Amino acid sequence: MKARLFIAVTALHAIVLPAVAETNFNTHPRFEINPELGVAGDFSGTYKHWRDPSAVEQFASVQTDSSNEWMMNGKNMDIVEDDFHPGHLAVDEGEKLVNLWEHREPGFKACLGSGSTDLEGIAARYPLYDEKLGRVMTLAARVEHCSKKVLWKNFKQGSPMNANITLYLKSLSNGQPIQIAVDSGPMKEAYLRGETLFYKRVGQLNFACASCHTPGSIMGNRLRGEVPSTPFGDVSHYPTYRSPVGEVEVLHKRFMRCLKQMRAKPLKPGDPAYVDLEVFYTSMSNGYPITAPSIR
Ligand code: HEC
Repeated sequence: MKARLFIAVTALHAIVLPAVAETNFNTHPRFEINPELGVAGDFSGTYKHWRDPSAVEQFASVQTDSSNEWMMNGKNMDIVEDDFHPGHLAVDEGEKLVNLWEHREPGFKACLGSGSTDLEGIAARYPLYDEKLGRVMTLAARVEHCSKKVLWKNFKQGSPMNANITLYLKSLSNGQPIQIAVDSGPMKEAYLRGETLFYKRVGQLNFACASCHTPGSIMGNRLRGEVPSTPFGDVSHYPTYRSPVGEVEVLHKRFMRCLKQMRAKPLKPGDPAYVDLEVFYTSMSNGYPITAPSIR
């Protein structure tokens, strides 16, 4: 009897398994993302709405339609006429900090610029693999590293000081397209790990990032007042000034917030898993200009 049941179950598996493999319990079905296409590889079909300021203007009607507004990917908020918001104060604060510390401990800027004191445009190349340090560095990790190495301080990732300096550095690349290479070496490895994490189901609700940020998922549907949108182009406006809470939110803090929604234990800013996710996410913004400071 037992043997017959076993055979029946095995036969059933043989039929069902190919389908099961696609909807594996531990991973969300994958999308073919081509990192070479960057932001243009958008799978949500929404890129045409927010590709550039003229597209945003052209699709103004979408922005006033509450059920379709998510298709703007929040990018309409980057093109506001009255463009002053407290994110600019954070940039000023970051600039003050950098100049103050450079004055006290010359070498801070050169460390931030990996040898050059010209900090314009550097943010568009992050995250990058630092040969000397032998690891993939995010911009926030660079700020933390230089504070320790040159200032003997610790501007920890996730702290307001680190966030303000990171945002200031990002503002020095405002308008420049993000360009990171993930086609080889440690950056490719980080990309692949980040991609795996994006589809991995975690937490009490068994959600993956993909459960809310890919087509055919919760994406586009209201979820306690917020509507999850496409992951393409996200990194270009981070760190962002979050008006509901009145503070600058760095990318890793947003990851934490999403993980809490998933009832999963959030990791700390700077965690290696977040670095991998940031590499994956940044490749999905490749080619898209940085907006800093931004407001969300
Ligand atoms: C339960 C649904 C849900 C899950 C799962 C989820 N998110 Fe989110 N996420 C949201 C919502 C809602 C927003 C806010 C709306 C938006 O911008 O997409 C958001 C926003 C974001 C943003 C900022 C988007 C922007 O344009 O400002 C990032 C980045 C992000 N999520 C990353 C992740 C990552 C990484 C994971 C997996 C660790 C994840 N999310 C899992 C719901 C979710």
